[in-house]
Amino acid sequence: MTRTHYYTATSLDGFLADANDSLDWLLSQDVDDEGPFGYKEFIAGVGAMVMGATTYDWVLTNHIGKGEPWPYEIPAWVMTHRDPGSFADVPGADVRFAAGDVRAVHAALTEAAGDRDVWVVGGGDLAAQFALAGLLDDLTVSIAPVTLGAGRPLFPAPSTSASPPRPATAPSSAPTTKSWAPAPGSSPPCAKERRGHACPV
Ligand SMILES: NC(=O)c1ccc[n+]([C@@H]2O[C@H](COP(=O)([O-])OP(=O)(O)OC[C@H]3O[C@@H](n4cnc5c(N)ncnc54)[C@H](OP(=O)(O)O)[C@@H]3O)[C@@H](O)[C@H]2O)c1
Repeated sequence: MTRTHYYTATSLDGFLADANDSLDWLLSQDVDDEGPFGYKEFIAGVGAMVMGATTYDWVLTNHIGKGEPWPYEIPAWVMTHRDPGSFADVPGADVRFAAGDVRAVHAALTEAAGDRDVWVVGGGDLAAQFALAGLLDDLTVSIAPVTLGAGRPLFPAPSTSASPPRPATAPSSAPTTKSWAPAPGSSPPCAKERRGHACPV
């Protein structure tokens, strides 16, 4: 059965991106894609994804704008009030645009995902819209040992537009929360270490 994940990474003080929408603080981390909550295993189980327009802009600027190919092989929905024609054309990308109530988009995502899962990429307000509609099953948050002081929140304050998912102690139908946080200054476990060898210093 298709599950809907908010799978993301945050700073220690709860930001997805810094105040300039930069992810340099995150992309400079030494992350093991095959480690705990690794991206490789996660994305293999995903059949459709959805992101907000700011996140899409980031992908356009930082991948397509640098001559890199579209990084996903699954249908991607972009939530925006803008005219879809105002976005650059991306060769090879299956991108669909939507606006409004996330419940309609979720139905389309679930159908497109088939027997795989749905990935809510973010940002936080969009994830909160899914949570508020009771559509988030899993929340997987990797925590980078970095503080930013300001930026785009992991979840906006409940008083603005959303309630966060209930904690893992709630009934089994409620979203579960997983997180992994290395101690500041330490490195994430490397693949070798998990196989019983010491990691290179
Ligand atoms: N750390 C991570 O792993 C991670 C993950 C995801 C994103 N990010 C970064 O975090 C930042 C996200 O910023 P964000 O949270 O402010 O933005 P966002 O969710 O990516 O985009 C917000 C925009 O999405 C559109 N939108 C959202 N809900 C909508 C709805 N129901 N109907 C129509 N349009 C809707 C609106 O676009 P319009 O203004 O066009 O109408 C809104 O301004 C980006 O810099 C991104 O790169 C980081």
